Amino acid sequence: MEQVLSLEEIDLSDPDFWARPLAEREGAFATLRAERPIPFFAEREIPGMPIEPGPGYWSLTRYEHILAASKNPQVYSSARGATAIPDLPVEFNEFFGGMINMDDPRHARQRRIVSRGFTPRAVARIEESVQRRASEIIERVIEKGECDFVSEIAAPLPLEIICDMMGIPESQAPMVFEQTNVILGLSDPEFIAAGETPEVAALRAGGELDALMREMAEDRRRNPRDDLTTALLDASQEDGALTQQELSSFFVLLVVAGNETTRNSISHGMKALCDHPEQRRIWAQDFDGMAATAVEEIVRWASPVIHMRRTCTQDTELGGQAFREGDKVVLWYASGNRDEEVFPHPYRFDVRRTPNEHVGFGGPGPHFCLGANLARREIRVMFREIFEYLPDLRVTGEPERLQSGFINGIKRMPCAFTPGRAGARPRRP
Ligand code: HEM
Repeated sequence: MEQVLSLEEIDLSDPDFWARPLAEREGAFATLRAERPIPFFAEREIPGMPIEPGPGYWSLTRYEHILAASKNPQVYSSARGATAIPDLPVEFNEFFGGMINMDDPRHARQRRIVSRGFTPRAVARIEESVQRRASEIIERVIEKGECDFVSEIAAPLPLEIICDMMGIPESQAPMVFEQTNVILGLSDPEFIAAGETPEVAALRAGGELDALMREMAEDRRRNPRDDLTTALLDASQEDGALTQQELSSFFVLLVVAGNETTRNSISHGMKALCDHPEQRRIWAQDFDGMAATAVEEIVRWASPVIHMRRTCTQDTELGGQAFREGDKVVLWYASGNRDEEVFPHPYRFDVRRTPNEHVGFGGPGPHFCLGANLARREIRVMFREIFEYLPDLRVTGEPERLQSGFINGIKRMPCAFTPGRAGARPRRP
């Protein structure tokens, strides 16, 4: 953590702020928590987005304020957009975020329907798939001795799992992967094709995912299978089925919410374990015994979702600051996860940290991450594979970071390890 910016120099709306080294960003949030915990920032024009800059937003940087807002969705609403600070057209928000951008009762109905995919039976089936996919990923790289950690190890797992859950054919996985990158990497020029604006790129990417889900729905209505798509279309259950539009939006939500977050947790976790070899040793000595706390610490450390937004439904007050009805309030989860009032030595990576009630999956409330248990499982299984089959894996270059104030992303991270022989290991049951 490096406090190089003065209080007056900090502007969370400045894209250059998000290009600063992580330690400087963390230093700025430490300054805010201590000196101005609920600052207001003006909004800027977003290049390529045909919308006027909005009125600005309040920023919750302290853990206790983030929790208070999360627990009070009647006042801090998600319906005007949780995933973007600018007010996007409602149709845009609903398509790209689905229920994450809704309040109860609409949110609650959808959440009950999609929770069908997370029943004990569904999760048990996913767990098998997580193990099998993680083994396959290691098998694909083990003979190489070096690879890009992000694209070859961290990224494929969450994507393949979501595709498995939904029953998406393997041949479509690369397309899903590419479109997800476009939607989540909108603030990074690398993911926008020449001559395309971010808005057009997002709509095109969303359109391709929508077309895939239409095809899938048509097929599953005729040939129901034991997959999540079929379950979501089952009108015989309480709450009915998702409509075609809801199904497409939910799929977009799953691929954007479940993919990059888990991938970045694994990448940041690997980097942290390399930077803190004593923590790696501690975990290696008792992998299963330590996995629960280590995984939680990886998510706190990574804080893959930097913020979410709410909008006040009435005049209110928090931590001595008055808010007016319609004010935007941004919950800086990444800052809450470094709050020195809650986490002793917050900049210390500690695989045994207990308690660790971080807000990496959001605060307590209706929008708490639906995929938290699945994500925990994926991270645990991936690291077990790495500890066992690539035990000396080391990061060999600086991670290339995504320039974004929303996702704490690593785009590329070279790594090397002593090669093994593919197919030489016993298959896990
Ligand atoms: C380490 C990995 C993950 C992180 C850090 C993460 C983070 C989050 C956060 C912060 C929220 C709260 C949104 C808010 O406050 O408005 C959220 C919601 C959500 N997440 Fe995750 N997530 C992860 C993995 C997953 C996975 C694997 C899935 C599904 C396969 C998933 C599906 C969802 C969904 C559907 C929501 C919306 C819930 C609602 O609005 O009711 N997430 N996630």
